[in-house]
Formats: sequence, C-alpha cells, structure tokens
Amino acid sequence: MAHPSIVILTGAGISAESGLGTFRDEGGLWAQHRIEDVATPEGFARNPQLVVDFYNARRAQAATATPNAGHVALARLQAEHQGDVTLVTQNVDDLHEKAGSSDVIHMHGALNSALCRACDHRWPAPLEMRVGGVCPSCAAPRARPDIVWFGEIPYHMERIERALAAADIFAAIGTSGNVYPAAGFVQMATHIGAKTVEMNLDPGETVALFEDTRPGKASQTVPAWVDEILG
Ligand code: APR
Repeated sequence: MAHPSIVILTGAGISAESGLGTFRDEGGLWAQHRIEDVATPEGFARNPQLVVDFYNARRAQAATATPNAGHVALARLQAEHQGDVTLVTQNVDDLHEKAGSSDVIHMHGALNSALCRACDHRWPAPLEMRVGGVCPSCAAPRARPDIVWFGEIPYHMERIERALAAADIFAAIGTSGNVYPAAGFVQMATHIGAKTVEMNLDPGETVALFEDTRPGKASQTVPAWVDEILG
C-alpha cells in the first residue's frame, strides 16, 4: 500500500525513558497513590487538595521532562508520511508536542489544561493549580485539572473511532492494555482489516490480539518501526 492511513495509540511507556512514571509497572504511580483518591470525581469531591497536589507534582515533573527518541520518531512520521497519521495518547504530558508532533489527541486530558466545573471553559493550566481556582470565563471558583478520571468519558472518541474505521495500520506503544476504551482499539482495527502492531517493554494485556509485537524500549523500537514505515 502506497500511503497507508496510520492510527497510533501511546501510553505511559513512551514517556518512561523521559523520566515520567508509568502507572502499573513496579513502583508505578498506582503503587504510590490510590486511584480512588487521586483519579476519580469522588476522590476530588472528598479531598480536592490531595488531587490538586497530585497533578501539580506531575505537571511540575512533566514541565522539566524532555521527549525521547520514541516521541521524536513519531513526530518525524507525522511530518514525512504521505498518508494520514492520527496520534492518540492516553498520556497527559506534552512530550509529543515538545518533540514536534501536532494535533495530538489527548483522550485522557492534559496536565497543561484547566477545566471549569461550572461552565466547562478550558484554559492553559498554571504550573500550580489551587483548590477553588477562579475560572477566567465565568469567574466561578470551580477550576479542576482537565484530566479524565476513572468513571468519566474519555475525550474525542468520535474522532478516534472515525480514524480507526479508516486505518490501514494501528500501532499501540507503551500501554498495558488495561484501561478501556483505549484497550479495545486493537479489536476495532482488526475488525476493519488493519495491520496491528504492539511496541511494549512487557507484553500488554491484549498482546495476543496484535499481529506483530515488538518487545523493547520505545526509544529503540519506535524509531526502527518508523524507519520501516517511511521506507
Ligand atoms: N518502552 C516501551 N514500553 C514501556 C517502557 C519503555 N521504556 N516502560 C514501560 N513500558 C510499558 C510497560 O510494559 C506497560 O505495558 O508501558 C506500559 C505502561 O502501562 P501502564 O502503566 O498501565 O500505563 P498506560 O497503559 O498508559 O495506562 C493507561 O491508565 O491509569 C490510567 O489514565 C491512566 O492513561 C492511563 C491509563
């Protein structure tokens, strides 16, 4: 196929070599914090300060992180591939953008964005958000991190499903395949006949559903895969 349409899904593993923790690896974020305390609407209602502090710490860490060869290779693919490239990430850091990627679909939200619980306005988040932050649009003291928490609906799903329905290639990079709907994208891609490839340090939960699996570090497997695609 001359210029295949490519859909890419990235997870925390692509940012691991940039120093940002993953969730489910040994000592990962969910070993240090209870999901129900820092990544659910109920946790935010119960203790908003704990949640705001958690994302302030992750935002500060992401602010000083630099993209690795995996991010850079995906930016090169977007720039040089003749066919469509849709880059979907579960990550809330901005390392894809720092590497030069554009139009990154953040289906779980972004650390650099703030959301108003009163009017749904979004604005660039300050490095340190505070509880009761004021919305610049409606002035309500109802700012929250613009992160999709467990139990909430991921963003941009219609656009993602449209891209998957037209994909010739689906690649999942650095994601354990534990969290839906992202973990179900490989089934959707397979259903429409796309080639599927997983690039992961350890096999993900859905590894058996991928035609092609490339174990290893994203800083090595992703540039090699992009070189293949760009021929
Ligand atoms: N290179 C490639 N893959 C790596 C690397 C690396 N250097 N280091 C770790 N990995 C892989 C692990 O093998 C694992 O399969 O990255 C994956 C990380 O899995 P998780 O920690 O579960 O992260 P992710 O899949 O992105 O989590 C999905 O869960 O908690 C929610 O919203 C959160 O977006 C997150 C979602």
